[in-house]
Amino acid sequence: MGAFSTVLFEKSGALAYVTLNRPEALNAYSVRMRDDLYEVLSAITCDDEIRAVILKGAGDKAFCAGADLKEFMTAPSAVKARQIRAARDLWRLFLAVRQPLIAALHGFVLGSGLEMALLSDLRIASPDAVFGLPEVGLGIIPAAGGTQTLPRIIGLARALDMLLTNRRINASEAYDSGLVNQVVPKAELLATAEQIAAKIASFDPAAVAAAKEAVRRGCDLPLPQGLALEGTLASRLRASRNRERVENHRNE
Ligand code: COA
Repeated sequence: MGAFSTVLFEKSGALAYVTLNRPEALNAYSVRMRDDLYEVLSAITCDDEIRAVILKGAGDKAFCAGADLKEFMTAPSAVKARQIRAARDLWRLFLAVRQPLIAALHGFVLGSGLEMALLSDLRIASPDAVFGLPEVGLGIIPAAGGTQTLPRIIGLARALDMLLTNRRINASEAYDSGLVNQVVPKAELLATAEQIAAKIASFDPAAVAAAKEAVRRGCDLPLPQGLALEGTLASRLRASRNRERVENHRNE
């Protein structure tokens, strides 16, 4: 994989680190960042050595302050935007990554920054984190899944409050509403994400991936179909265990 101008990608043992790396622009999400993230996440999902992924922002002030407003002024037409999205659907790719994604959130977590966090599996925040969806105030709506993911995570009333009034919430309100799993001192943010990632990495990756898939796909299904999906994934996991046992036995 080549070097990226907007994202840092590092591997350490079973963990991968993806850092949004435009601190001079509060890690605003640009077209270049979309392409870089697409390449990085595609590589991660094919890499069996990686068992968990930490997503974070460079610099002291922000995880990501949303879409790059300077680029936004020169945005392509709606038709062009749809074509690009069909070819490189980054948001769908976020959900398709097999390994759990842990977002370590500090400072501004706005617009597509919040939406990337919502597409992650676990969210850890420091007390200075501020969350908001400013899109409606700019005459647009969130387009990285925010209108769908936010209500699924914090409920309809709270999501509509954030979406329609442009109200920003702090880390403690984010914790109370279930938006983040934990709030930890800023100095411990990365270490906490690493501890969680290491715990996940210590488990059987096939079981972790199956649990993630069951929840992610099951959320969008009626309960009977969700239960059927869980049954299928559980049987598949058992069958692969049995195959492994037979293989091991043969090799003894
Ligand atoms: N797109 C492009 N550049 C951005 C940006 C964005 N979304 N958010 C911040 N920046 C840039 C600023 O232009 C500034 O660059 P400059 O020093 O070259 O002028 C730099 O990041 C620092 O931002 P600044 O506004 O000076 O910091 P602040 O602490 O005063 O304010 C925010 C921080 C987040 C409140 C403010 O930057 C802001 O409102 N950003 C836009 C948020 C937004 O609406 N996002 C779009 C969602 S769709």
